[in-house]
Amino acid sequence: MDNPSPEPKLISEEADVTPTVLAAMADTADLRLKGMMASLVTHLHQFVLETRPTEQEFEYALRWIVDIGQATNEFHNEVVLAADVLGASTLIDLINNDGMQGETLSALLGPFYRGQAPDCLRGDNIARSDTPGPSLFFRGRVTGVDGAPVAGATLDVWQASPVGLYENQDESQEDFNLRGKFTTDVEGRFHFRSVKPAGYPVPTHGPVGVLLRAQNRRPMRPAHIHFIITAPGHKTLITQIFSDTPTALAADVVFGAKQQIVGDFVKHNEPHPEHPDATAPFYSCEYEFKLVPGTPTFPVPPISGKKA
Ligand code: BEZ
Ligand code: FE
Repeated sequence: MDNPSPEPKLISEEADVTPTVLAAMADTADLRLKGMMASLVTHLHQFVLETRPTEQEFEYALRWIVDIGQATNEFHNEVVLAADVLGASTLIDLINNDGMQGETLSALLGPFYRGQAPDCLRGDNIARSDTPGPSLFFRGRVTGVDGAPVAGATLDVWQASPVGLYENQDESQEDFNLRGKFTTDVEGRFHFRSVKPAGYPVPTHGPVGVLLRAQNRRPMRPAHIHFIITAPGHKTLITQIFSDTPTALAADVVFGAKQQIVGDFVKHNEPHPEHPDATAPFYSCEYEFKLVPGTPTFPVPPISGKKA
């Protein structure tokens, strides 16, 4: 009689679990998925074996993940926020954008990018509703890493108001306030008017807030303006230009601030000579963005709407 194949062995102790799960996933056709899942399961099991959670702690952790999903909707993205406060988004950003060719460093997209911002003319003011705060005149250039101007680049710009709220968080701001899209001229130049951004707390009404409080962490982001710069033949640059104190930059709750992308925000103590409504003090900032050759990509907006 033929040798019957041995009875499959069932899990009987902790050490059996990881090899059994890896074997169950061994036929995954997509090799990238296979490798990533094998690594995830191995690290996850090691974490569990090291920390030895109680069943109550496991239930709590699963509930926290469910809450992240349930707190996410068209107007708010708690999933992105969780990845950001855990430092995962910054690690992935650094892996994929190392700045080694002399390009401008990238920074997190964050959870407040809506897409669909209105097209603007160079020089337009993105403070559409009455937005109290010092005026800001931002100008600059988009070039390649070789210094050649990039004409026709698109800059999608968004920022929080001087009270630290994005328009989608604040009923008093008009739809798309402090958001706009600009294009560069033949010399790669652009300019727009806005208000000086302020630092702000990330939303803490959800499970991420529960974690930050438990860890005794301040939820603050340093003041910044977001840019997504796209141009044919160039890799898309997703970045932020910062305006804050060294202490606030180092305390960024999402670990996003980098020295190279701190802007020089100059304070002016007289009214603007060409814009008398820009009373003193107003600010100006000039920044040159450098793009690497590549194929443009367009991030999926983490949110799409503003609550009425
Ligand atoms: C932001 O800059 O908009 C942001 C980034 C990460 C988390 C929260 C906000
Ligand atoms: Fe932001």
